[in-house]
Amino acid sequence: MIEFLLFLGLLGALSSIVFWSVLLGISPMPSLPKTARKIAQQVKKHPASTVVELGSGWGTLALCIARHNPTKQVLAYERSFVPYAFSLLLQALWRTPNVTFKNANFLTHTFTNEQIAVAYLCPRSMVSLWEHWSKNGFPRVLVSATFALRGVIPTQTLKPSGFLEAILFEYTTFKPTVLK
Ligand SMILES: C[S@@+](CC[C@H](N)C(=O)[O-])C[C@H]1O[C@@H](n2cnc3c(N)ncnc32)[C@H](O)[C@@H]1O
Repeated sequence: MIEFLLFLGLLGALSSIVFWSVLLGISPMPSLPKTARKIAQQVKKHPASTVVELGSGWGTLALCIARHNPTKQVLAYERSFVPYAFSLLLQALWRTPNVTFKNANFLTHTFTNEQIAVAYLCPRSMVSLWEHWSKNGFPRVLVSATFALRGVIPTQTLKPSGFLEAILFEYTTFKPTVLK
């Protein structure tokens, strides 16, 4: 009986992950530790008090940023329930109080010029972000792993220094360079 309930739980969790991955167009694949540390160091260079992670997956990047930036608050949005619940568990284990995980759509967040955005998404989500920010306001800084904002020149590009490390694009101005 217990085995059957465990099997049902696992099946439910897997179905939920697949459902949200299809709907959002991206799975909760985490940034590798080396990339996460590089993002955390990049965030450290900026004086903003809040870092907003757009799609926090299993929570490892948000927790890494928070541990490297103890004076900053990290607000991490994740729509997929299973990875979100796992993040809460990890946060309790790692005792990192300066992170708030939210099981919500990051497009409901309105940025102020005091906030840094961090993302590892997909081209479709980058377009949605651009459309949302054009109407509602931009963050002070965006650090994006792997995917760039189409038609906007990054202020800085950090090339990977090792195998499997992601390229990082940093934006501090958001002027489109080509017609969209
Ligand atoms: C590739 S994962 C990145 C996870 C984490 N940022 C990292 O680097 O380790 C992208 C995550 O974004 C989430 N996501 C995509 N669109 C979203 C949205 N509109 N609102 C909240 N989460 C979203 C997905 O569910 C997925 O878990």
